[in-house]
Amino acid sequence: MARLTGSNSVIFDLAADNPNMTDLDRLTNLYWALCSVLRSGIPGDVVELGCNAGRTSVLLEMVLEAEDAGRDLHLYDSFDGLPAPSDADRYLKQGDCKATVSDVLAVFERWNLRLPQVHTGWFEATLPRQLPDRVAFAYLDGDFYESIHTSLTHVWPRLSAGGSVIVDDYCDRELSPRAWDGLPGVKKACDEFFADVPASRRILVGAGDLAFAEFRKTG
Ligand SMILES: C[S@@+](CC[C@H](N)C(=O)[O-])C[C@H]1O[C@@H](n2cnc3c(N)ncnc32)[C@H](O)[C@@H]1O
Repeated sequence: MARLTGSNSVIFDLAADNPNMTDLDRLTNLYWALCSVLRSGIPGDVVELGCNAGRTSVLLEMVLEAEDAGRDLHLYDSFDGLPAPSDADRYLKQGDCKATVSDVLAVFERWNLRLPQVHTGWFEATLPRQLPDRVAFAYLDGDFYESIHTSLTHVWPRLSAGGSVIVDDYCDRELSPRAWDGLPGVKKACDEFFADVPASRRILVGAGDLAFAEFRKTG
């Protein structure tokens, strides 16, 4: 099957394969954000927190292989679906979005990709000891307030200077009026975390209702 060498057209297939959780806007933004970090030589591995069945994770691995990056890809998920929502969360409920490790491995095998390191369990349990020491790029897609706050708490101290964290479902309607505002706990968690942590924030946009933020570690 076609891979990400010379042409990005495989992104169409990846979007069609995962219509509930990603789209062309997310995939093209992830592609460029990860390329930018790798081509700038930012040291560290690549992590996705909330990988579900791995259907976006394969794009990250395709970029790593196409760029010959020599980095590992680490994936994290409860594989038990979402935890209980907080008062800040809505739209989804506990147990939604369940997938299995076998789903993840099957998708990587289908695309004939190097297998990732998969970390099973709640973020609170896995992240403190199972994150790589140095992270260059993180994709945070945990949907709920606590999941995103926990993700930032553990990823940010390990993020290299110049490294990038992309957060899905971060909706800033002032800067991106068409962005989807279904999971307000995500923005709340980020805004609270970064209230006293220096970072450069960029709202990413696309042709549709993308709600994506990038936080870069400066200095
Ligand atoms: C929207 S899905 C991720 C979709 C995936 N990134 C993709 O693009 O296909 C959210 C995932 O986050 C996981 N998740 C959310 N909060 C979690 C937590 N606190 N610990 C572990 N997994 C969590 C859920 O199990 C679910 O699979």
